[in-house]
Amino acid sequence: MKILVIGCGGREHAIAWKLTQSQKVEQVFVAPGNPGTFLEPKIQNVELSQIKQLIDFAKTNNIDFTIVGPEAPLAEGIVDEFRAHKLKIWGPNQYAAQLETSKAFAKDFMAKYNIPTAKYQVFTNGQDAHNYLLTQKLPIVIKADGLAAGKGVLVATSTTEAANFINDIFSHNKFGNAGNKVVIEEFVSGVEASFIVMIDGKNILALATSQDHKRLLDNDEGPNTGGMGAYSPAPIVNETLHQKIIERAIQPVIDGMNQEGCIYTGFLYAGLMIDEKNHDFKVLEYNCRLGDPETQPIMLRLKSDLADMIDAGLNQQLDQIRADWEDKFALGVVLACFGYPEHPRKDDIITGLDSISRNELNPNQLTPYSSSLDPDIKIFHAGTKLVEHNLYTNGGRVLCVVGMGNDVSQAQLKAYEAIKQIKFEGMQYRHDIGNKCNATNNTAAINTEPTPIQASMR
Ligand code: AMP
Ligand code: GLY
Repeated sequence: MKILVIGCGGREHAIAWKLTQSQKVEQVFVAPGNPGTFLEPKIQNVELSQIKQLIDFAKTNNIDFTIVGPEAPLAEGIVDEFRAHKLKIWGPNQYAAQLETSKAFAKDFMAKYNIPTAKYQVFTNGQDAHNYLLTQKLPIVIKADGLAAGKGVLVATSTTEAANFINDIFSHNKFGNAGNKVVIEEFVSGVEASFIVMIDGKNILALATSQDHKRLLDNDEGPNTGGMGAYSPAPIVNETLHQKIIERAIQPVIDGMNQEGCIYTGFLYAGLMIDEKNHDFKVLEYNCRLGDPETQPIMLRLKSDLADMIDAGLNQQLDQIRADWEDKFALGVVLACFGYPEHPRKDDIITGLDSISRNELNPNQLTPYSSSLDPDIKIFHAGTKLVEHNLYTNGGRVLCVVGMGNDVSQAQLKAYEAIKQIKFEGMQYRHDIGNKCNATNNTAAINTEPTPIQASMR
């Protein structure tokens, strides 16, 4: 098989790397990819980004199917266009992708199809939003409608903070067209989890559960980001809850989309807030793709053949396969550049990643990070660039270091020990990825789940 993966982040590196492990996969192309994908065997980066170019590439290279990593091409309608050319592509069409590309669409969809979510109102002008704000309790959540790379949401603890954000969106155009509407919603407390599935139009295949860490700083402080680290599984999602989520948050998307005359295919990611007793949940958001960085630990745990899974999805046969997972915890820590997320800086030299010399300068030299020495450590690239065999930061989230172990502590140890080797000026990372799992989730799962070990390994 020849597979094309679209995107350039850590998620796409993880997807492409996993695909190369399939005996059936001859070559993975990543458009445009990053130095991490460039350095992997069986992967080739292709410098393409326009949909038309990608269609031509898929045709001329006999690509068996294409996987869309990020949301932007979905928003542009890449799936519709590929299908119009009879090319196989894994992802939802433009209509269905509105679940992610418009928070107002997603909230109205959830309300219409009785999916549990926080109470909300949608506004198209600042004055109405300000008036409504004055009638609401604090904290309060303000969301720009469109895509904003994880930065369009503010959990405000004061009216002034909320009002300033509304002004930023409507008066100062902080998010451009993404700020044409604003959703103001009730604050929901609890524990977050990421619940990602594959949908082939009628069948659901749940992937391993995971938990992201959205805030920049330790103890969930600082601004929201695209995600600073994640672990899988998320034990808070016990067997009962898992079933409930499928019934109330995933199946209604398939059914609701059908009612709207649309068939949902692709990954679907429900960002959930689970109540403290872990009995119930609300959907905070949908994403129409895999999560970043959740994908990185999830792929490390995946034992099944990802190419087979996608192939089954494209043939509406997800009911005929299963996904098997390592009975271990995987934990990814994001190393972000100086200034992330507001003012990311580029061009800081990165040292300690000797996998570059293994691949580029001395192919026989193995390093502590090469899979051959320790299959339980893997480093995925995102915001990096290679200049004459040297690696530099290229803004945003730079690397994701994933460790795997029998429990969260072991996975933490693996990841954080590896991080000690890596250096670049202004490197920012959280030191507490996985602590919440140790502190609350394990206990929560054990308290409510009759078979906690199995449940925790989903
Ligand atoms: P979203 O992009 O909608 O998932 O929001 C980003 C982050 O903001 C979430 O991961 C939560 O941490 C937080 N958040 C969003 N909506 C709410 C809410 N209604 N109550 C509490 N926190 C929220
Ligand atoms: N990690 C959150 C996201 O991928 O949107």
